[in-house]
Amino acid sequence: TKAHVIFSGIQPTGVPHLGNYLGALQQWARLQNEALPSTQLLYAIVDLHAITTNQDADQLRRWKRETLATLLAVGLDPERSTIFYQSAVPEHTELMWILSCTASVGYLSRMTQWKSKLTVPDEVSALDSTSAKARLKLGLFSYPVLQAADILLYGATHVPVGEDQVQHLEFARHCADQFNTVHGEILVKPQTVLSSARRVMSLKEPHLKMSKSHQDFRSRIQVNDGPKLIGDKIRLAMTDSMPGVSYEPDHRPGVSNLLAIMSYLDGRGRTAEELARACNSMNMRQFKETVTSAISESLASTRDKYNRLMNKDETHYLDDIVIEGSNKARRQAGKTMAAVRQVVGL
Ligand code: ADP
Ligand code: NA
Repeated sequence: TKAHVIFSGIQPTGVPHLGNYLGALQQWARLQNEALPSTQLLYAIVDLHAITTNQDADQLRRWKRETLATLLAVGLDPERSTIFYQSAVPEHTELMWILSCTASVGYLSRMTQWKSKLTVPDEVSALDSTSAKARLKLGLFSYPVLQAADILLYGATHVPVGEDQVQHLEFARHCADQFNTVHGEILVKPQTVLSSARRVMSLKEPHLKMSKSHQDFRSRIQVNDGPKLIGDKIRLAMTDSMPGVSYEPDHRPGVSNLLAIMSYLDGRGRTAEELARACNSMNMRQFKETVTSAISESLASTRDKYNRLMNKDETHYLDDIVIEGSNKARRQAGKTMAAVRQVVGL
C-alpha cells in the first residue's frame, strides 16, 4: 500500500483560537505523534488565502509569525512535520491555474463559504446584480481552487480539518477528477479526516462558528490568552437565564457550547451530558468559573511555549524553521509539477 501523506493549512489572520486548536491543531499534533515512519506530514500557513480579504502588510507578517509559533507550541516538531508559508512555494499558484482550466464554474458558484466572507449581507441576495458582482473579488470567488491546489500538490491522502472545510475537500476531489479525466490519473484524491470537535461556536453568537475573522475579539479564546482574560471572556459569553446547567444545543446554544468545549478538553473523556449533570447544581457564575479553569489549565503548556517562542531571542529560530520547511515543501511540490507539466504539455 502507498505511504500516507497528511496535509492541512491554517490562515494567518490572527492568533489561532480554541476552535482552531480543538478542530484542527490538536489533531495535527496527534497525527504526527501516531504516524508511521513512512507517513509524510505537511502543515501550511496559507498566507495567499489570507489576502482574499484586505490585510495590512505589517499585521499580516506578524500574524504569520504568531501562527508559526502556535503550530510549534501545540507540539508540532519541525524535524518530523514540514511547516511552511504557502507563498514561499510558487507551485501552489501554478497548479491553481492549471486546475482552473479544467474545474467547473458552476460547481464553484454553488459553494457557500465565499459568500459568507462578503461584508454586506445584501451582496449575497443581490449577487445577480451588476454592482454586487463588481464588488466581488475574483480571488475570493476562486480560492477553493487554490485550496485544491494546496492539497493536490503534495499528493495528500488525508486532510485533517474542521466541519467548515468539508465542502472544500469535496471540491478538491472534483478538481482532481476533472484534471485526471482530461490528462490521465496523475492527481491523488484526498480523504477528509474530521476531529471530534467539528465545530466550536462563537462565545458571543453561539449560532456561528468561532472564527478569527469575527470583529469582536471577545467571541473567541486565543491559545495565548492568560487565565484573567479567559475569565473575562467566559463571563461575557452569551448564556441564558434558565435554571441549572443542561446540554440542549437547540434551546441553550451558549451553555451547550461551553459544555461541549469542556468535554473536548476533558482528560477523563466525559461527554457534554455527563459534565452537565456534574455541574447541574451550580449557578451560572460558578459554572463559568469551572469552564474558565478547564480552558485555562488545558491551554497552559501551549500558552507558555507560545510566549517563549514569541520572545525576541527566538526570531532566528522561527525564521530558520520556516525557511527549511519551505525548501522541503518546494522539493516535494516540484515532483508533482514535473508530472503535471509533462501530461499537460508545458
Ligand atoms: P478561521 O475560520 O478561524 O479563520 P481557518 O480558516 O484558518 O480558521 O481554519 C483552520 C482550521 O481550523 C481548519 O481546519 C478549520 O476547519 C478549523 N476550524 C476553524 N474554525 C473552527 C471552529 N470554530 N471549530 C472547529 N474547527 C475550526
Ligand atoms: Na475558515
